[in-house]
Amino acid sequence: MKRLLITLSCALGALTASAQSTPPDDALYQALGGTPGLTKLMDDFVPRLTADPRIAEFFKETKLSELKKQLVDQFCVVSGGSCIYEGETMKNSHAEMKIRKSDFNALVEVLQQSMDQQGIPFTVQNRLLARLAPMHRDIVNTR
Ligand code: HEM
Repeated sequence: MKRLLITLSCALGALTASAQSTPPDDALYQALGGTPGLTKLMDDFVPRLTADPRIAEFFKETKLSELKKQLVDQFCVVSGGSCIYEGETMKNSHAEMKIRKSDFNALVEVLQQSMDQQGIPFTVQNRLLARLAPMHRDIVNTR
C-alpha cells in the first residue's frame, strides 16, 4: 500500500512538474506573426469581406472596427496565443443571419486571399483553416 502511494505521488508530481514546465503551444500564433501579424491580416480581410459580392450584404450593418477587434482576439486564441476573446459564441453571433455552406466557403476563400496577400506560407494557412473549419457546425444554419 505504501509503495502504491509513493508511486501515485511520484506520478502526480511528474504530472504537475510537466504541467508547469511545458510552455503553451503557440507555434501557429507565432507563425502568423503574433498579434501584429493577425492585426495586419484583419486589416486586409475585413475590407475584402465587405467588398466580396457573394457575402458583402451580410456585413452592411456591422461595425467593422469592432468585428476586426473580435477577429484578432479570436484568431489569437484559436492559434494558441495568450489573448482573451470576449466576443459572442459562434452560434449566437451568427444566429440572426441565414448562412449557407456556400457563404461559409466564400468567407474561407476571402481569408485565403488575405493570407496569400500577407505572404503567409501555405502550410501555416492550412493549419489555421483546419482549426476554423469545425466552426461551420455553429455558423452554417441554412440549407
Ligand atoms: C470560420 C468562419 C467564421 C468565423 C471564425 C467568424 C467569426 C466571427 C466573429 C469572431 C464575430 C464577432 C462576434 C462578436 O462580435 O461577438 C463574427 C461576427 C459576424 N460574422 Fe462571422 N465568422 C465566420 C463566418 C461567417 C460567415 C460565413 C458569415 C456570413 C457570410 C459571417 C458573418 C458575420 C457577421 C455579419 C458578423 C457581425 C454581426 C454583427 O454585426 O454583430 N461570419 N464572426
